[in-house]
Amino acid sequence: MLEGKQVSLRGLELSDVDELMRHWNKKEVKRFLLAFTPHSIEEERDWIRNTWKRRKEGKSYVFGIILKSKNLYIGNVEVSIMNPISRRGLIGIAIFNTDYWSQGLGSEALELIIDYAFYTLNLHSVELDLYENNERAYSCYKKVGFVETGRRRQAYFSDGQHLDAIVMDILASEWKKKKK
Ligand SMILES: CC(C)(COP(=O)(O)OP(=O)(O)OC[C@H]1O[C@@H](n2cnc3c(N)ncnc32)[C@H](O)[C@@H]1OP(=O)(O)O)[C@@H](O)C(=O)NCCC(=O)NCCS
Repeated sequence: MLEGKQVSLRGLELSDVDELMRHWNKKEVKRFLLAFTPHSIEEERDWIRNTWKRRKEGKSYVFGIILKSKNLYIGNVEVSIMNPISRRGLIGIAIFNTDYWSQGLGSEALELIIDYAFYTLNLHSVELDLYENNERAYSCYKKVGFVETGRRRQAYFSDGQHLDAIVMDILASEWKKKKK
């Protein structure tokens, strides 16, 4: 369990699937994610089981984001190991409960997982990417300390449009300096 002020992060349980399914298939939630089709309860249960397997294999670490004041599961955040030699990680985040967007909760969850990436997993850098029109995510990532490093031109296709993927990253040294 990783403890923040407003949110904590914990491993997923199969019983989380009901809350996930209340929100996960909404178009506004999936719009900026690489998730193009609706998912069934059984597919989500399999996904949760797979998070346990990948964690045991040391490949990725998925946490549920819990709103502490309501003990409510509102999203997921993940760090996966992209390159074990250079110790680079890849971060992904989705707050699926739209009632809780733009309240600083995504930033807090990211701060917790970046701490975990650098101070527990001993990664050297972490990156993420986003659709060029995901303005909320861009503001959130900049606020946390991610730096834009480039674009994969027209790498994504969404709502009939080819969109750039903006790539952002942060080095462990930058994070540790920022936290001092
Ligand atoms: C992206 C996401 C994780 C961000 O989490 P969040 O809790 O909403 O973000 P935060 O509140 O910490 O930060 C968002 C910032 O963007 C700002 N913002 C909101 N809408 C905006 C917009 N249209 N344009 C620019 N900035 C915007 C907010 O004001 C806030 O900045 P502030 O704290 O300085 O006021 C969350 O919104 C989410 O899961 N969205 C859907 C899935 C998704 O897009 N995942 C990311 C895929 S790369």
